[in-house]
Amino acid sequence: MQAEKIRPAAPVPHSRELSTLQVLRELGRNPVAAFGARSYREPYIHARTWVQDFMMISDPEGIKYVLLDNAANYEKSIQLQRLMRPALGNGLVTSEGPSWRFQRRVAAPMFQLRHVQAFAPVMAETAQAMVARWDGLGEGAVIDAADEMMRLTYEIISRTLFSNDVTMQYAKMAEALAVYLETQGRVDVLRTLGLPNWVPTPTNLRARGPLAFFRKELSALIARRRARLEREPGSVPQDFLTMLLTTRDPEGGALFGEAEVFDNVMTFFFAGHETTANALAWTFYLLSLFPEWDARVASDSGDRGVTRMVLEEAMRLYPPAPIISRDSIGPDTVGGIAIRADTSVMISPWVLHRHRTLWDEPDYFDPERFAPGRREKIHRFAYLPFGAGPRVCIGMGFAMQEAQIILAAILKRFRLELVPGHPVEPLARITLRPRYGLKMRLVRRA
Ligand code: HEM
Repeated sequence: MQAEKIRPAAPVPHSRELSTLQVLRELGRNPVAAFGARSYREPYIHARTWVQDFMMISDPEGIKYVLLDNAANYEKSIQLQRLMRPALGNGLVTSEGPSWRFQRRVAAPMFQLRHVQAFAPVMAETAQAMVARWDGLGEGAVIDAADEMMRLTYEIISRTLFSNDVTMQYAKMAEALAVYLETQGRVDVLRTLGLPNWVPTPTNLRARGPLAFFRKELSALIARRRARLEREPGSVPQDFLTMLLTTRDPEGGALFGEAEVFDNVMTFFFAGHETTANALAWTFYLLSLFPEWDARVASDSGDRGVTRMVLEEAMRLYPPAPIISRDSIGPDTVGGIAIRADTSVMISPWVLHRHRTLWDEPDYFDPERFAPGRREKIHRFAYLPFGAGPRVCIGMGFAMQEAQIILAAILKRFRLELVPGHPVEPLARITLRPRYGLKMRLVRRA
């Protein structure tokens, strides 16, 4: 008898039609559980609600139109801005128009392939140090893989972009970030109705502590670097932070202002570690369910691309950024549907990557989808872990390299087994995290 196929943890799409209020409530609880069966079948869902017109697009051609062909008519949505602006200000993720273009021009050279490749030794060294620490824990030790990955990518971003000058303790940072995401990172109905962020709702009040903490720590980091640049410019590390402080716009020669430096330190700090950590955590979860793939990755010397295939399949099932949203500036027609100005346009990699019309057995794990020869057949706009178009993730090459180095370092030494009975549930709070962390047992490889 054939064994029953394992379906990795995901909410089963409900088939009932929800009222607008119910949808809002579900979105606040957990957006990935809010999507009904219809979302996974239809290429477009267009609805007029008393809050805002809404359009969800899961047609790759329609997505291409919004993110690329007519990107000028779509800006980062007010909803998402509200979740992110309190922390990220007007940095590269959240800015628009000329301000965004300026920041992207200044930051882009730092993420060119040759710069990213130069980070490989530091990434490997940091991962090795973690493996050595795990080694010291003894056979069968239980770790929280989600938390460990967060700690590791945090160290890597500190060491690569900020030359290890960040003094913020990991545990304090992680706690503050968790409070921020739990409060500010939720789509909450009050905010949907249009209350500005400064209104002291209980959520906004709870987010203040973490925000003050980040502000204090990262302002101090910038001040220290500025002082060093003045005192002993020759000895200053030529890293991302120095670049933010000294690079002139190739067009026009302007330097970043005080706020732009701060907002981008925050932006790169958070955009640059949390997402990759979640991609890795979900990968370990999947590898624990599928030992045959675990063995294949462990013996991948890098040339067969198995690690990349597994990572890509993990980000298909668990896209670390599960929702990309825009608001239309003017009226437009997408996929033959007329939309009004200020329509909220949602592209959900979570839904898109599990769409019934685009993938075979979409809820099941099969890295072969990304095997050479098959990968090229996937529509560029059907698989969007890093977004697409002018706002595509600037750190994509950085993240892919980092994740593969980390997987190789860990899997050579250990197998990670999910502790039996540990509940696993994907929870979207800006990023897609395992709601209860991931308790895993370290098993040394023979
Ligand atoms: C697996 C890891 C990562 C995933 C899944 C991811 C995902 C994404 C996505 C989907 C977007 C586009 C959002 C939109 O269009 O609304 C984005 C943008 C961005 N990401 Fe990443 N990211 C990852 C890693 C990183 C890293 C390592 C960095 C920096 C070191 C980074 C920095 C950024 C920045 C600054 C933007 C905004 C770019 C712009 O608007 O010009 N990300 N990311």
